[in-house]
Amino acid sequence: MKKILAFGLASLLIFTSCKPAKNDTETKIDALLSRMTLEEKIGQMNQSSSYGSIEDMRMMIKKGEVGSILNEIDPDRINALQHVAVEESRLGIPLLIARDVIHGFKTIFPIPLGQAATFDPFVVEKSARIAAIEASSVGIRWTFAPMIDIARDPRWGRIAEGCGEDPYLTSVMGAAMVKGFQGDSMNLPTSIAACAKHFVGYGAVEGGRDYNSTFIPEHLLRNVYLPPFEAAVKAGVATFMTSFNDNNGVPSTGNSFILKEVLRKEWHFDGFVVSDWNSVGEMVNHGFAADYKDAARIAANAGVDMEMVSATYMKYLPELVKEGKVKEAVINDAVRNILRIKYRLGLFDHPYVDVNRKSIMYTQEHLECAKRISEESVILLKDDKHVLPLKSSVHTIAIVGPMADAPYEQMGTWAFDGDSAHTVTPLEAIREVYGNQVKVLYEPGLAYSRDKNLQGIVKAVTVASQADVILAFVGEEAILSGEAHCLADLNLQGAQSQLIAALAKTGKPVVTIVMAGRPLTIGKEVDESAAVLYSFHPGTMGGPAIADLLFGKAVPSGKTPVTFPKMVGQIPIYYAHHRIGRPATRNETLIDRIPLYAGQTSLGCTSFYMDAGFDPLFPFGYGLSYTTFKFSNIKLSATQLKKGDMLTVTFDLKNTGSYGGTEVAQLYVQDKVGSVTRPVKELKRFKRVNLLPGEKKTVVFELPVSELAFYNMNEEKMVEPGDFGLWVADDSQNGKELPFKVKF
Ligand code: BGC
Repeated sequence: MKKILAFGLASLLIFTSCKPAKNDTETKIDALLSRMTLEEKIGQMNQSSSYGSIEDMRMMIKKGEVGSILNEIDPDRINALQHVAVEESRLGIPLLIARDVIHGFKTIFPIPLGQAATFDPFVVEKSARIAAIEASSVGIRWTFAPMIDIARDPRWGRIAEGCGEDPYLTSVMGAAMVKGFQGDSMNLPTSIAACAKHFVGYGAVEGGRDYNSTFIPEHLLRNVYLPPFEAAVKAGVATFMTSFNDNNGVPSTGNSFILKEVLRKEWHFDGFVVSDWNSVGEMVNHGFAADYKDAARIAANAGVDMEMVSATYMKYLPELVKEGKVKEAVINDAVRNILRIKYRLGLFDHPYVDVNRKSIMYTQEHLECAKRISEESVILLKDDKHVLPLKSSVHTIAIVGPMADAPYEQMGTWAFDGDSAHTVTPLEAIREVYGNQVKVLYEPGLAYSRDKNLQGIVKAVTVASQADVILAFVGEEAILSGEAHCLADLNLQGAQSQLIAALAKTGKPVVTIVMAGRPLTIGKEVDESAAVLYSFHPGTMGGPAIADLLFGKAVPSGKTPVTFPKMVGQIPIYYAHHRIGRPATRNETLIDRIPLYAGQTSLGCTSFYMDAGFDPLFPFGYGLSYTTFKFSNIKLSATQLKKGDMLTVTFDLKNTGSYGGTEVAQLYVQDKVGSVTRPVKELKRFKRVNLLPGEKKTVVFELPVSELAFYNMNEEKMVEPGDFGLWVADDSQNGKELPFKVKF
């Protein structure tokens, strides 16, 4: 008997000591939770948008009916509201103040698509850190970024907000942004909680129409759309936001598979999930919930911890709990998740913002970082006559086009707080920095990008005819991309195309600089121009960055983070498409070469458009420099690899031209045979390499065999043994294939 007792006691001790000890924060959360009424708990799950006077909001906060407020940016008001929460509400739980700080708060960095074009996670992290420093200085402690939706359809206006088409590039950049926003510790007053959004699949909306449905099978979801979100969890992201779309018939805000199975069980995420704006209520519009009460029940049970603005939780959760339709345990879990982040942010210890601090907006350091990232984000698409950089033989330049001096437009979408008075445009920068070197003529030709008035073009041509080189700044106003700003036509808007055509007719070399929120179908303008620079809306310091690139003080190094289509009809077009049975070859017969009465099968029965062929205008990863680079001596550490091995790829990269420059070396892999068809290529590594003229460096990529894994039809992630191809190149289409094998 004694023995049995002793055994029982021992196993109890072992059992107790195996249970993870609760850390300090979890103990505090439990203690606080035990004191909360159901209504106070539901209050924490409610996010309200700032409205009206403080008095209006005071009562709600005092009663504990608000956990978070979005869109407050005045530090005095934020402190006043926080005082009510901390000192006048029963439990004194601080508010979490949120704002969309997407690519900068005051100092505006390039739109995220431009940041992705840098292929430089270091500078991306730095710009997110600066955004956090500026935003937190007014009391914002939570941003709804990074947006890491894979987007393969430039008609979708929100392509501007993400990192483009590739899961690996998006994963690296998203993780860098998370680290930048959240800093070394979220507890620092300069750190803000990040939010991985929009979970998930939103970038695949049908036809690129915002808010539309998606139909993504699970293995595609897992191989393409989920990886950036998993990378964000690994980077420590504090919060997630559900997306507006329904995937395979289930709106994300009511999707317990993605929110519970994947996010919590597989990835062990312990932060909280917020709905998108009104997306709980919109489940009624989807026809997925019968009414708002039903919507609240579905969202809470699916795992949405906090509701953004629709307030169905406030209204219906109390009765849903009483009716047993939502268990109080569900509410407790949600509140725990929310309080955990509030503790991690240190809000209980330092809830207020110091209103007497020195302003840190637009500091020299912030502007320099903004200039550097803008510079790195610009992509040189064409310069075959070497017009760029502008030579000393150029004495007069004509600056033309609606984007040359458009301070507001160059900030791009989601620049709520950026002040265009601080923006430096290309016209200003060129005049200021290079005005004593060249004579600058300016005639915009069009007042804004949608301007269809042809009168100004005549004036612009007259002025341009007097110059040695024409710099034509075209593109999109900020309003033409972003949320709910989709387009079916991706040609240059207004009369911009006529403007370029008229300038080209002068016979003077035309350098076209595009500033836009997405890739545009600019094949005609590329043909008419001697050189083309593409800048996804470059932000506050876009002007000085572009000026230095034009005059050769800086050398372009950006690469396309998304495929540029020739025509809208080619969309979706992306490099990592699956292998098919009848791929097109270079010899496809295009429409004008098809003879009359040609036989039905005479075109060869392969996959291409008779009017657009199969290849894009510019592939993923593409971008030129003023100098040239040569890859050589590419060696693999082994050509037969086993599970657990590391493949080391070594190569030499030489600057073979006469300018110092930076090449983005890219490593792609193809899995030759799979249990499901596999992409033709997948980006696995990239590195920016700086080289002086004539300089050669040996570069090393390390790729663990485990990173060749993918999800098969049974949703199992595994490396399938067999043959692989590998490329090291300057874009997704170049390079020589090297074979290797994986054997188990
Ligand atoms: C957008 C989110 C954004 C939220 C709050 C929504 O309409 O989809 O990306 O964070 O509004 O402003």
